[in-house]
Amino acid sequence: MVLPRTVAVAASTSSFRISLTSLSTINYKFQLCHSSISLHCPRLQSTVACFSQQQNHSIRSPNLVALEYADLNLPHICVELGHIRVRQHVNPLSSALSVPAKAPDWNDVFKDPSLPLMIDIGCGSGRFLLWQAKQNVGSNNYLGLEIRKKLAERANIWAKELGLYNAYFMFANATVSFQQLASSYPGPLVLVSILCPDPHFKKKHHKRRVLQKPLVDSIVDRLTSGGRVFVQSDVHEVAVDMRTQFDFVSNIQHVDIIDPNFVCDPDGWLLKNPMGIRTEREIHAELECAKIYRRMYQKRT
Ligand SMILES: C[S@@+](CC[C@H](N)C(=O)[O-])C[C@H]1O[C@@H](n2cnc3c(N)ncnc32)[C@H](O)[C@@H]1O
Repeated sequence: MVLPRTVAVAASTSSFRISLTSLSTINYKFQLCHSSISLHCPRLQSTVACFSQQQNHSIRSPNLVALEYADLNLPHICVELGHIRVRQHVNPLSSALSVPAKAPDWNDVFKDPSLPLMIDIGCGSGRFLLWQAKQNVGSNNYLGLEIRKKLAERANIWAKELGLYNAYFMFANATVSFQQLASSYPGPLVLVSILCPDPHFKKKHHKRRVLQKPLVDSIVDRLTSGGRVFVQSDVHEVAVDMRTQFDFVSNIQHVDIIDPNFVCDPDGWLLKNPMGIRTEREIHAELECAKIYRRMYQKRT
């Protein structure tokens, strides 16, 4: 693996300083694998140690994703799209993405649009949602919102190939589109998830994060009573940011208060993933020995 230039340069010197933001960004973006790097930073050192351990065992995360989602048996290449090259990051604040996406005719996209709906915000490849849809054919609908158009297109092709008429993916900036989409859906909104959202580490980029106050308000407003919101991140400050926004909303409460099946660690993070399967980012992060910080809230009845 080629090391990012900044790290390669830094690693070749005997001592260097690196800001916490750059460190988080580097740590998040690149899987460091240079076991000979000796650093005076425990966090980076443990990442390196963890990764070199994985190298010894020849574990690769794409293989783990394929294994976790073996059930779906998805083709690697989409006939209609070929090999897709997807931009790594898209700026959600660009003018092209500031217009709310138009709601579809729900009868065109779901076999039964009166079924309870789950919305996954920033659904990435869509595998996670397709897996959920496959488990719940006939009882729930699944809508994925994704800012990278090609991912949404490929996920719709996969849904068709799998014969899943309860899963649909939209190219949409969730921050500005959620309210309109969720309001127009005829059935109840039972679950909203925001799983490992892009961290946008730099303070000046926090406004690019998907979860902003108006989105929190729309989610809570649109949820049916007893409906749930599930958020998680492998980046502690991002998880804390999401948690802070939901903890103080008056008409929702954390699930461990009302349901003994949900247990938290002493800091209030859920001990287990309640969804039955990990997302792709979660798989990659756990391979890098990261902790996943999770919270689930329920709207009061
Ligand atoms: C780190 S990935 C996580 C994907 C998936 N949830 C997972 O856990 O594997 C975050 C995803 O959110 C998408 N995204 C970022 N901002 C968004 C926005 N405003 N609206 C919709 N999707 C967004 C990105 O394109 C990316 O696919």
